[in-house]
Amino acid sequence: MKLFIASAALACFLCVMGCNNGALRSGAASLAAAVEQAPKDTYVLSTDSKKDKTKSLPVPFSHVNHTTKNYSVDGTKPIGCVECHHTDQPAAEAAKHPPLKSAHPADRTVTLTAETVKDAKTPEVPTCRACHAQEGDKPKLLAAIPEVTYEGDTDPTVLTNELAYHNNCNGCHDKATELRKLKTAPTNNECAKCHTGAK
Ligand code: HEC
Ligand code: HEC
Ligand code: HEC
Ligand code: HEC
Repeated sequence: MKLFIASAALACFLCVMGCNNGALRSGAASLAAAVEQAPKDTYVLSTDSKKDKTKSLPVPFSHVNHTTKNYSVDGTKPIGCVECHHTDQPAAEAAKHPPLKSAHPADRTVTLTAETVKDAKTPEVPTCRACHAQEGDKPKLLAAIPEVTYEGDTDPTVLTNELAYHNNCNGCHDKATELRKLKTAPTNNECAKCHTGAK
């Protein structure tokens, strides 16, 4: 009798594992994605500079300001997620803004937005550094640090973390400052307004 109960229990257990494993796993995966995919309100960037540490002190970055306030160049709307997370959209969408062309993963169909980020089917958002590694490092997601050859250049530019963040962050700040005479968006040469060292 004992043996029967034991084997019945085992059979039952095996069935649960066999029948529900997929469901359990996808349940866990969506739960994990829903938690992991929420961006933090603030990030401290540049905490491990390889270069002149007096000029490249840590950079506090308010993700929440940059996604919920009207921080677009013209000041009329929040910035689209893919203006920064440019590989988090289908390749055909990225290609509308050359030199951009890549998507991650390459065959993705979802564009990252404040809404789609909550969806378990939206691929995980990589950090910029997963591709734009520091000079001399191999990025986690690519064979090498991305390069682009800009119009009028003969040599490719290697988009290290320094160049990728500077071009993205300062590119917008410089344009917004010029257009709206803002004093609050740190421009290219106002290093210390970003590299404040505050953590
Ligand atoms: C809009 C904000 C901003 C401004 C203005 C800015 N930086 Fe940066 N800087 C960053 C960010 C963000 C990173 C990359 C952080 C990371 O990889 O975590 C960075 C990276 C760097 C790095 C590379 C550090 C490394 O990883 O080895 C150096 C050097 C640097 N900045 C120097 C400067 C200097 C010098 C200036 C002024 C001429 C300046 N920055 C202006 C935000 C800024
Ligand atoms: C999955 C890899 C990957 C991730 C993640 C990634 N990039 Fe890129 N980035 C690239 C590649 C590859 C290119 C070259 C153009 C292309 O193939 O789309 C590029 C190009 C760029 C450029 C040059 C575009 C121009 O107009 O000059 C900037 C700036 C940039 N990335 C900033 C960022 C920032 C900021 C982040 C994070 C918010 C980021 N990237 C995340 C791979 C990535
Ligand atoms: C102004 C540029 C910018 C905009 C706009 C932006 N992000 Fe980010 N996001 C960043 C940076 C910088 C980080 C910090 C990690 C890194 O260095 O890539 C980050 C981090 C994240 C992370 C965490 C990634 C990880 O693995 O740690 C998620 C998720 C994310 N953002 C989602 C979004 C969503 C959704 C939107 C639009 C509602 C958005 N972001 C808009 C720049 C931006
Ligand atoms: C598409 C435009 C855009 C991009 C990209 C962008 N910013 Fe900004 N940022 C702004 C604007 C606009 C302001 C000023 C807003 C105001 O005061 O009305 C600002 C303000 C700031 C400030 C002042 C404090 C604050 O939160 O208001 C810091 C620091 C800053 N940005 C850092 C960064 C960094 C670092 C990046 C890149 C990871 C970045 N920004 C990318 C538009 C942008």
